[in-house]
Amino acid sequence: MSKDFLSLSDAGGDVIAAMINDALDRKAARQAWPKGRADADAPLAGHVLAMIFEKNSTRTRVSFDMAMRQLGGSALIMEADSTQLGRGETIADTARVLSRMVDAIMIRTDDHAKIEELAHYADVPVINGLTDLSHPCQIVADLLTVVERGFALPGLQLAWLGDGNNVANSLIEAAGLMKFTIRIGGPAGYEPDAGFVARARAAGGEVILTPDARAAVAGAQVVVTDTWVSMGQAGGEQHVAAMQPYQVDAALMAAAEPGAVFLHCLPAHRNEEVTDEVMDGPQSVVWDEAENRIHAQKSVLLWSLGKL
Ligand code: CP
Ligand code: NVA
Repeated sequence: MSKDFLSLSDAGGDVIAAMINDALDRKAARQAWPKGRADADAPLAGHVLAMIFEKNSTRTRVSFDMAMRQLGGSALIMEADSTQLGRGETIADTARVLSRMVDAIMIRTDDHAKIEELAHYADVPVINGLTDLSHPCQIVADLLTVVERGFALPGLQLAWLGDGNNVANSLIEAAGLMKFTIRIGGPAGYEPDAGFVARARAAGGEVILTPDARAAVAGAQVVVTDTWVSMGQAGGEQHVAAMQPYQVDAALMAAAEPGAVFLHCLPAHRNEEVTDEVMDGPQSVVWDEAENRIHAQKSVLLWSLGKL
């Protein structure tokens, strides 16, 4: 059975927990292997993933490609500008054609309505590789990284600093599904999506919005930030100035729980949202987090293709 993964809620809390366990098992089983080798069971042998990119990417592109290779399948990249999509062929027609040719579609785009339209017209699973609204694959990798460090998700205390962007929205969604507390420290006018906040609270997550960076990190076991200006955002001096109090530096990390870990989806703008000292310091787990995109996405792909 094929399933779309447009949001974490498409899977739900139990499936996300199963994805994390599967990713941990597959990661452990690979420790002694060369990077490019397929997993012994090659569960996606012969399967092909089409990846449509309407925005730049390093991690999402490479990790999905590697995930497909390790699962025994392969991936192909479609840069929107070099396809007929870039010349006006409709999303619906693109979905119909790709559904006859490939086994699954991953898309990175701007307007979330585009991915919903693609999923509506596609007969194969559609996976969200980031939209302006959300970035669910990133959050599966983030949760995997947190669990790997020995933290339990229910009751976890997590702080988000800075812009209330797509990554923040999906992290808030995770707080509802996995029952943890997220404190968002950010300026007025740059809050996360109100719908995500309301749904997470209704689902049993604790979501606290505060303009005080110190209050956000107090008691936090995990401190997370991201670029102040996301792809496609206008940015500007006022936007960047509003973010300055939320820079994650050593003093802010010291105000979190002892033993707290630092996460960043990357790419980082060093010495803007995070200092070199924190990025390269002992509490940073950002390189594990980046590697975990491969392991997390394997679970997402397996679930979407009915094999998890
Ligand atoms: N974190 C993330 O999605 O990175 P890329 O933009 O490089 O894919
Ligand atoms: N919030 C960032 C995430 C990049 C992976 C952006 O959308 O640009």
